[in-house]
Amino acid sequence: MALAPSYEAPPAVPVHVAIIMDGNGRWAKARGLPRIAGHRQGAEAVRAAVRSCADLGVSYLTIYAFSSENWKRPPAEVDDLMGLLRLYLRRELAALERDGVRIRFIGDRSRLAPDITRLITESESSTAGNGQLTLTIALNYGGRYEILDAVRRIAAAARRGEFEPDDITEPIFEQYLQTTDVPDPDLLIRTSGEQRLSNFLLWQSAYTELVFTPTLWPDFKHHHLEEAIHEYQRRERRYGGTGG
Ligand code: IPE
Ligand code: IPE
Ligand code: MG
Repeated sequence: MALAPSYEAPPAVPVHVAIIMDGNGRWAKARGLPRIAGHRQGAEAVRAAVRSCADLGVSYLTIYAFSSENWKRPPAEVDDLMGLLRLYLRRELAALERDGVRIRFIGDRSRLAPDITRLITESESSTAGNGQLTLTIALNYGGRYEILDAVRRIAAAARRGEFEPDDITEPIFEQYLQTTDVPDPDLLIRTSGEQRLSNFLLWQSAYTELVFTPTLWPDFKHHHLEEAIHEYQRRERRYGGTGG
């Protein structure tokens, strides 16, 4: 017997997925390994997540790689994380270019090593023409700093007489954020069981659906992303309205 055809549109895939990749240290600890081993495995998970997002039709993926507070970690761990980023960019750039991925970075670049800043600029310019998936890497990123920096530049523009304080609207404010040409995240996933934003995309996630999973980031696979997207698709986004 033929099944009755369904005329319902398939639930929408989120346009923009943001991920707080957490739990590398605990993954390593559980195996009696140094934290760097967790970060290394975490970099593999990034590679897989980028591919999964492209396969599932996600247009924007933003990943939290290093927060402005992560400098509090021991210098050796910070060095390891920066070293992995170098390795990832050098090793993955050709594949990302080929797969149509556009790379952009958000965060304060002034404190990064010069060779990393160069790698960042190179990877942004060599992938600038790509349109399949925009991968934003948040590196030395903090949401409060981003907002404060926008406020400072807007205040300076107002002092130059470019506009009156009353004319500053949300769309104008957003032009001063580092995410200016990227839509707000639809879905934000945090791994490892922690349920907080840790200074990630504070302005942008005002109406984002949050999904928390106990899975540690190095264990995060394609099916975990699919599960998070299914959870997202079950949510009713109301934006302050009554729904329906
Ligand atoms: C996430 O894993 C990676 C970064 C924050 C750079 P953690 O290193 O925070 O892992 P846990 O939270 O200690 O397990
Ligand atoms: C958030 O994770 C930052 C990144 C994933 C890069 P943390 O592990 O640094 O966050 P807290 O300290 O647990 O809030
Ligand atoms: Mg952590």
